Amino acid sequence: MHVAMIGSGYVGLVSGACFADFGHYVTCVDKDADKIASLARGEVPIFEPGLPELVKTNLRQGRLVFSTELPAAVRKADAVFIAVGTPSRRGDGHADLSFVYAAAREVAAALDGFTLVITKSTVPVGTCDEVERIIREVRPDADVAVVANPEFLREGAAIRDFKHPDRIVVGTDEPRARERMAELYRPLYLNAPPLLYTDRRTAELIKYAANAFLAMKITFINEIADLCEVVGADVQEIARGIGLDNRIGTKFLHAGPGFGGSCFPKDNLALIKTGQDHAAPLRLVETVAAVNDQRKRAMARKVAAALGGQMREKCVAVLGLTFKPNTDDMREAPSIALITALQDMGARGMEQARALLAAVAYCEDAYACADGADALVIVTEWEQFRALDLARLKQIMARPVVIDLRNIYRPDEMARHGFTYVGVGRPGT
Ligand SMILES: NC(=O)c1ccc[n+]([C@@H]2O[C@H](COP(=O)([O-])OP(=O)(O)OC[C@H]3O[C@@H](n4cnc5c(N)ncnc54)[C@H](O)[C@@H]3O)[C@@H](O)[C@H]2O)c1
Repeated sequence: MHVAMIGSGYVGLVSGACFADFGHYVTCVDKDADKIASLARGEVPIFEPGLPELVKTNLRQGRLVFSTELPAAVRKADAVFIAVGTPSRRGDGHADLSFVYAAAREVAAALDGFTLVITKSTVPVGTCDEVERIIREVRPDADVAVVANPEFLREGAAIRDFKHPDRIVVGTDEPRARERMAELYRPLYLNAPPLLYTDRRTAELIKYAANAFLAMKITFINEIADLCEVVGADVQEIARGIGLDNRIGTKFLHAGPGFGGSCFPKDNLALIKTGQDHAAPLRLVETVAAVNDQRKRAMARKVAAALGGQMREKCVAVLGLTFKPNTDDMREAPSIALITALQDMGARGMEQARALLAAVAYCEDAYACADGADALVIVTEWEQFRALDLARLKQIMARPVVIDLRNIYRPDEMARHGFTYVGVGRPGT
């Protein structure tokens, strides 16, 4: 099958490369000419494990091409995916759908023969209806079915997630569209992920409900962690104690500095706005957003407390800037709010972060970062921070204070090495 992927960012590029790997002929389109030029040379501009190899192999075998020419890609396509960004709209927090609607207009003009237009971007309920209206306005003659097919991949494990999804949600009432969607995903049948067919509005809302639920789980365990610190209980054992209950499950129960990233914060906000617009407010989700917002700066107070309450002229080493390991995505990373708050309190202080954070010294490894620091804060649990040489660390730091916001070290081991150690929701820290 011929596929056009409109938007070659984290989702478009991974999806396009995976569809090519399934055996389809894929053109990944983007309006960013520099991005397309480097992709065409086989250079992947984002960090995603396994992606450069996948792109190179499929480029070489001629199933994956990159282009800025949307009309040509759409004309020959059986399926056109819209995978452009849907950021928070400045000012009100609604999803900004201008990229989706602009893409829909361009796609409409180039449609040729029966074509699926599929939203892979995360879009609020009703967006596919509007996409269809736009297409019919531009091209009343088009033979088209608009389908909602939200994406659930996680950055850092995107290829695995795309190739081994828990489910594939397909929103359409059109039998011809169902058939073609099944054909697109047929190579996955060996892994047998359930294809969940539903109507478009339900499919759109499933994506937001899933993200809101996961964000709620994280926020729940974070609040339990706060309580643990006050009453002397261990949040990790609580997470295990409740997670072993199949009705709850162990995932997304790791206490930490609050969720960030390119999806949860913006998608939660967009869902809240949708609820308010339809006079069906989602109070739980509203609370999750508010609690999570406050948490990031609260983590700075935790650092200050570990240093006796005074941050002026203190040097703080921060390990892990991205919102989670194995990605270079800095969007809404908790580290940004934490570092800004530390700087506000007077503290001194990887490429993607440079544009976002001023007056911070960037280091190539953990030891260079910790050298001479009054405190070391672990914000993201990259593999290379999991087994630091504690004796060396103690020697190079000005004060042996570690604030571990991911609970990757054991309090007794840190104490044995002479560190003042603060974790999240654990006794004795
Ligand atoms: N990043 C994730 O982990 C993830 C996971 C699931 C769903 N999503 C959703 O997928 C969508 C895309 O997210 P992303 O992280 O890949 O965004 P991104 O910003 O990395 O990529 C979007 C790309 O679309 C391009 N673009 C915009 N308008 C275009 C147009 N008219 N024609 C061609 N290209 C155009 C941009 O230049 C950019 O390269 C969002 O709705 C997001 O919420 C993201």
